[in-house]
Amino acid sequence: MSPARGPRVVLGVAGGIAAYKAAVLLRELTESGHDVTVVPTAASERFVGRATFEALSGHPVATDVWTGAEQVPHVRLGRHADLVVVAPATADLLARAAHGLADDLLTNVLLTATCPVLLAPAMHTEMWQHPAVQDNVALLRSRGVTVLEPASGRLTGADTGPGRLPEPSEIAAACRRLLGSGARRSDLAGRRVVVSAGGTREPLDPVRFLGNRSSGRQGVALAAAAAARGARVTLVAAHLEVPAPSAVRVVPVGTALELRDAVVAAAADADAVVMAAAVADFRPATRAESKIKKSEDPARDPVVVLERNPDVLAELVAARSTTSAGGGTGARGPVLVGFAAETGDASGSVLQHGRAKLARKGCDLLVLNEVGEGRGFATATNAVVLLGADGTERTVPESSKDVVADAVWDAVVPMLIAITPQVPQTPETGAP
Ligand code: CTP
Repeated sequence: MSPARGPRVVLGVAGGIAAYKAAVLLRELTESGHDVTVVPTAASERFVGRATFEALSGHPVATDVWTGAEQVPHVRLGRHADLVVVAPATADLLARAAHGLADDLLTNVLLTATCPVLLAPAMHTEMWQHPAVQDNVALLRSRGVTVLEPASGRLTGADTGPGRLPEPSEIAAACRRLLGSGARRSDLAGRRVVVSAGGTREPLDPVRFLGNRSSGRQGVALAAAAAARGARVTLVAAHLEVPAPSAVRVVPVGTALELRDAVVAAAADADAVVMAAAVADFRPATRAESKIKKSEDPARDPVVVLERNPDVLAELVAARSTTSAGGGTGARGPVLVGFAAETGDASGSVLQHGRAKLARKGCDLLVLNEVGEGRGFATATNAVVLLGADGTERTVPESSKDVVADAVWDAVVPMLIAITPQVPQTPETGAP
């Protein structure tokens, strides 16, 4: 069998019910010219037989390191691959990959691969949300592995929730992005970036606060993607429902005022600041020293008076235009990216509101997110439009937040290059 030309891909298949979708992914990859070798785990063969993968890939399939040992397959496959993708990646596979186990051919390949690695998890919601799994995912991401967020929807039984394997077409698109990004994977090397993420909490008294429903997932994905692309990342973390990646410096904050101070301090020598946090526009004007109690007389129930919080993004823009120095990008100051969650209404479409907000805020790029329809907050996927201050517009269709994160950095990198084409390469630069 003469091998197809084109990128060499190792497709790992772990033992989950979604293994059948790996056949669809394999088909899509081979039909678009990829030379794919399938490496199933022994457990996955309970779901899909190796004949399916051999017929669709045109290559023999092995699960252990002993088959064809004279060719040392675990080293050969890993070294020669342009991309390793595992779909589905089970909780067990994630754990073995995170901890460097090498007890079958696939985990050996993961240890010998020097190319990009993409893992597409699929499992029940409880398993995906378990701290052990989330810690393993964070560890893998911190090492530059791209771990897709699972999709939400119907799972194997009657249950629904996050844990579904993303659609094979989406995984194939992520593969193509990684394969096309040989130069891109270190395109933020030497850059310092600040990402704010999560929802601020504004205390009313020692036990109560005004908060919002931001999970921080998109900001965390942005921080992980920047670290994977070589940046030194400061993550200013308001309340997060997901763990922060370990390859970034985390500055925990609570309120909008704390977030403002942390972002402004970190922005002083940053090349880019991405404001993905959901910052409360208002805070209670007073904060009770002790827990607010009910009184006997309902007429004396407290009324919460709010006062405005600073607009952090607007302050960054203003600081950039009034100072002649500062920021890792020198006189111009950092590239500034804002987020906007909008709905269309009688006064304009989502896009019109987005353009107006971009002009109002004065940042360089606005990540516009149409909310409603189950999108945006607390979901694993996002559909956005990237609006550039120069009038550019790029739509990122419904994708995992990892894919959206990379699209944002894809838009930021040319702006950084335009400002400071050369990044001084000192031993200090690079991921922390
Ligand atoms: N933002 C900020 N400080 C605030 C509020 C928002 O820096 N006090 C940032 C957000 O992190 C985001 C962008 O501004 O990047 C837009 O947030 P959004 O809440 O949509 O902006 P607002 O100006 O509050 O607009 P609206 O009146 O539509 O809520």
